[in-house]
Amino acid sequence: MTNVNLKGRSFLTLLDYTPQEISYLLDLARRLKREKRLGMQHKHLIGKNIVLLFEKTSTRTRCAFEVAGMDLGMGVTFLDPASSQMGKKESIEDTARVLGRMYDGIEFRGFAQSTVETLAEYSGVPVWNGLTDQFHPTQMLADLLTIEEKLGRLEGVKLTYMGDARNNMGNSLMIACAKMGLHFTACAPRELFPAEDLVQKAREIAAISGGSVTLTEDVSEGTADADVLYTDIWVSMGEPDAVWQERIRLLNPYQVNEAAFARAKETAIFMHCLPSFHDLKTSIARDIHEKFGLREMEVTDEVFESPRSVVFDEAENRMHTIKAVLLATLKEAV
Ligand code: CP
Ligand code: NVA
Repeated sequence: MTNVNLKGRSFLTLLDYTPQEISYLLDLARRLKREKRLGMQHKHLIGKNIVLLFEKTSTRTRCAFEVAGMDLGMGVTFLDPASSQMGKKESIEDTARVLGRMYDGIEFRGFAQSTVETLAEYSGVPVWNGLTDQFHPTQMLADLLTIEEKLGRLEGVKLTYMGDARNNMGNSLMIACAKMGLHFTACAPRELFPAEDLVQKAREIAAISGGSVTLTEDVSEGTADADVLYTDIWVSMGEPDAVWQERIRLLNPYQVNEAAFARAKETAIFMHCLPSFHDLKTSIARDIHEKFGLREMEVTDEVFESPRSVVFDEAENRMHTIKAVLLATLKEAV
């Protein structure tokens, strides 16, 4: 992978990255993970500073960027949803030009994909998408690394995503799988299938990689022989509470449970970007329990806590893969 050079590039969606570039980032992440495990420091970016701009809340993404940045020797500023002027008193364009004068890179999590694109266009520094309504590309790197670690390969893996297949996770997994030669199945009600134009694009990409894209409403068909069963919360950040009732009605049959796993491969693993409503230990889950009687939602507690659940390895990999993105886009190969 010696001829891959990502210095100066933004990371807005995997659509902008070739399979070779994605493999390069995964290789780099693996190396950085190994170094961290061995206690080897890798402060390759001393003297640089990055800013993390959040319009929505976060645990994993924020902490992954902070720890990765600090491990690389950088200064890191966090701006929470309430504490910047952006969008209220200052345009995205102006904010981008100000931050670009002070920082070497900008992470953004928020609503519109167009915001992260505008930041990239106007700031003059690499911009990293930490989740928008449309895409969650840094999550994809962690997921691909985890699949490789657990199953020993990416090509030919059958990944079935059960849930809201037109949200940021559904869109991103479809593209990530198409790029890297996995067989992606969206197992969801028709109303929640990904947008037709994105499906079309993913199918064109999959035709080159040897992967495939399938959409099905049929749970038996969708879960049959799956290597990975993947799900996400039923209502995403930014959606109104009013959608819960309809979403529960639509997605209840697509819960990841033992019956779904019974049709998957014996070796199948469970993945989830987290956070997850698999018990009643959160205020939102208790609220939904009171209103609709559900004790668990997109995944049963039994599956979530089972040995085939790799969700915390996946969460840890957010940090190693984000570190690879920071290093690759801020410095030539080390
Ligand atoms: N998976 C993920 O992006 O988690 P956070 O919302 O906690 O960042
Ligand atoms: N679809 C979820 C993903 C969280 C990581 C959301 O946008 O809230």
